[in-house]
Amino acid sequence: MQNILKLKQEALDRLERINTPNDLDAFRVAYLGRKGKITTTLRKLKDLPLETRRTVGSEANQLKKDLEEAIEFKKKELAIEPSAPGIDITRPGKRPAVGHLHPLTKIEQEVRRIFLSMNFSVIEGPEIETEYYNFDALNIPHAHPAREAWDTFWIKSGSKKQRAGSKLLLRTHTSPMQIRYMEAHEPPFQIVVPGRTFRYEATDATHETNFYQLEGLMVGKDVSLANFKFVVEKFFREFFAGKKVNFRFVPSYYPFVEPGLDVVIKLDKGTWLEVMGAGMVHPNVFEAAHYNPREWQGFAFGVGLNRLAMIKYKIPDIRLFMSGDLRFINQF
Ligand code: FA5
Repeated sequence: MQNILKLKQEALDRLERINTPNDLDAFRVAYLGRKGKITTTLRKLKDLPLETRRTVGSEANQLKKDLEEAIEFKKKELAIEPSAPGIDITRPGKRPAVGHLHPLTKIEQEVRRIFLSMNFSVIEGPEIETEYYNFDALNIPHAHPAREAWDTFWIKSGSKKQRAGSKLLLRTHTSPMQIRYMEAHEPPFQIVVPGRTFRYEATDATHETNFYQLEGLMVGKDVSLANFKFVVEKFFREFFAGKKVNFRFVPSYYPFVEPGLDVVIKLDKGTWLEVMGAGMVHPNVFEAAHYNPREWQGFAFGVGLNRLAMIKYKIPDIRLFMSGDLRFINQF
């Protein structure tokens, strides 16, 4: 019995120190092989008196089973982690890289928050639009030269049914949502529509082919440009966190408003950057949405979110946003 207990202790100690599959195999042969220590011990049992044979025998058999199990376990351990003994588990681990929101996403969230706080609802709309909503319903007929202002990515229409209907395009502005929203809702209301817009035009430091706009539309019985001025001033105050920005309204032309204006902001270097187009909703637009233009009036605006981000963070070139350059992205 003493011998068996000693054998057990010795075997387990040795097994613990083994760390290659070859050594493990040698170990198995040394204990459980035909001439192995346990095998020979079991063989010698028959020389013992009957009484002792029973107790010692069952102990020896148990040891054999335990060892077989321990070897299987060790085998798995060595197979899973061949270099396990070389790993220093006390060393600090590698930190996984964690991503973060894109600066334009942050700006969009910030702008949404500000308009929600002014009781505007936030609505979204399709990026693939029809010619009708992007142009016709906004008082920009086919032959109108104003259409040239929005260089368009047209989408090839597949089926006959599609070709017969309004042609498809990537929306050049968020204004089509003015019509879609009015078609489905009764005034008075005030909404903003953030979203991606696309233009087929040459890029430069302030123009991208893919940028973000936020449309605003407020319709009621007596909404005026004074309301618009109040909303814009409050928006800029919040967005630029109280920092004074020098902006002004300049007369402009958009077929879907009358009168129309642009909002320009003075940059540090002294030049002015156009950030938004706006105006009072044109009667033809109300008619396209089946509102009575003698009953309702409203203001609308479309602001470029990339340009606002450029001013807030002093980003010199709009093309950096979509460049995929992590040195730029990781600054935000
Ligand atoms: C429009 O898109 C009108 N839908 C705005 C509007 C809405 C007017 C409602 C009246 C009423 P415009 O093309 O000027 O207008 O664009 C509006 C803003 O989007 C610009 O002031 C600018 O900030 C931004 N923007 C326009 N084109 C680009 C471009 N290529 N790259 C980046 N930003 C642009």
